[in-house]
Amino acid sequence: MLARSLSAVRYGLTQVGAEARAVLHRLRRRARPLVLVALIFWALAVFGGLSWTLASVALVAMAMVIMGQEPSDSESDDDFTSSKSQGRFTGPGNLDKEAAASWRPLLDAIPDAVVALDQNLNVMHFNALFQELFPKVRPGQPLSHVSRNPELNEAAERGALSNEPVVVDLFERVPVERRISATVSRLGGREGRRNLPLLLISFRDLSEQDKLAQMRADFIANASHELRTPLASLRGFVETLQGPARDDPEARARFLGIMSSQANRMTRLIDDLLSLSRVEMRVHLPPRGILDLNEVAAYVAQALEPLAAASKVKVIVTKSDGPVRIRADRDEIVQVLQNLVHNAIKYGREGGRVEIAVSRVLDGSPPSPRVLVAVADDGPGIAPEHLPRLTERFYRANASASRDKGGTGLGLAIVKHIVIRHRGELRISSVVGKGSTFSILFDELGSART
Ligand SMILES: Nc1ncnc2c1ncn2[C@@H]1O[C@H](COP(=O)(O)OP(=O)(O)OP(=O)(O)O)[C@@H](O)[C@H]1O
Ligand SMILES: [Mg+2]
Repeated sequence: MLARSLSAVRYGLTQVGAEARAVLHRLRRRARPLVLVALIFWALAVFGGLSWTLASVALVAMAMVIMGQEPSDSESDDDFTSSKSQGRFTGPGNLDKEAAASWRPLLDAIPDAVVALDQNLNVMHFNALFQELFPKVRPGQPLSHVSRNPELNEAAERGALSNEPVVVDLFERVPVERRISATVSRLGGREGRRNLPLLLISFRDLSEQDKLAQMRADFIANASHELRTPLASLRGFVETLQGPARDDPEARARFLGIMSSQANRMTRLIDDLLSLSRVEMRVHLPPRGILDLNEVAAYVAQALEPLAAASKVKVIVTKSDGPVRIRADRDEIVQVLQNLVHNAIKYGREGGRVEIAVSRVLDGSPPSPRVLVAVADDGPGIAPEHLPRLTERFYRANASASRDKGGTGLGLAIVKHIVIRHRGELRISSVVGKGSTFSILFDELGSART
């Protein structure tokens, strides 16, 4: 009870103190006009014959009028309210800075690109993301100098007059094609207030979102196309077997062989799609197992020996000294090497050679020790324009050649995702007419990075 009373008294005293300081502050700010008025009334009383009583009453009335006046622009009302609400009073010079400091960090913390504009649509403040978007922006610049985009400038002008946020889509072609959504919001009153922005424009880059939506649509279109082709062929053969070839045992045997290979192709495609989705789901889970890359390379070479023999390809394994251990999921690394060696056999030279080499290298800057497994062939190679897109789903450098060889176009997409999960790096190099090399870099177990 006593404590509560004491704290109430302390609170009251704090409030009185704050009020007294506020009055003192006002007195200090209006000292000049008050002194001037006092001098005039003193002169009127001394030299003009005005009675001292009348002069005192008139002086008090004038002083009340002066003290009761709205603070002028230079006195910054915002500063006053903010200081009052904080229960402390700082010097007038610091107040301006304080008001500005109170909202600027908010902009810096927004995870989108934002810029604050004053009443004249000049830049007051912007965050680092906005500077990334408009590298030449400077404080004080008119918006029309920051961006010449007519839609953006028009939206800012409309936003300054509107109570609702104005949203516009901006399309940029240079340096890269992208779609950015800009939202213009008016802050506070129509005319704005000194030291506070009138408009806030926030920008959101929608290009990545558009790209993902496009990729999803392409993926579904590609997957259904890949399934539709063998399905159509199967249906055609079924109809032929039911009709014209019903009594032709020779044709039936041939057609059943093709039908079986088409069904196998569909099974492979579905297996690859499932495998890709499994890998994608686990991409954020770090692998737990440990394996020796020398051993896995030898295992894959042996497993694909019959396939290599059928194409008269020689598979050579070059091991590194001692075991090369990495933290990995063995089944996934086997799948990576199988896909790469299978490609090298399929798209390499018939009667050529495929080399699987495991080595330790110094890589990166500053150089750090890493392990590398490279699969190289001496086939026709891949034209440079295809290299950046090879790991996209269903992308093939030569679609008909790939289909003829039973390819679904998903092998390298699976490789890419497995490598990402293992924090590795896939590098592809190729010289047309000489051959291709697919290399993967991993951190060796026990190195500083693992
Ligand atoms: N060693 C290589 N030499 C030449 N071209 C290659 C080589 N490896 C891959 N390619 C090209 O890259 C494309 C994509 O390969 P990817 O492994 O993803 O699909 P695929 O082999 O066609 O089908 P899948 O592996 O799903 O059976 C291939 O279609 C081929 O055009
Ligand atoms: Mg492949």
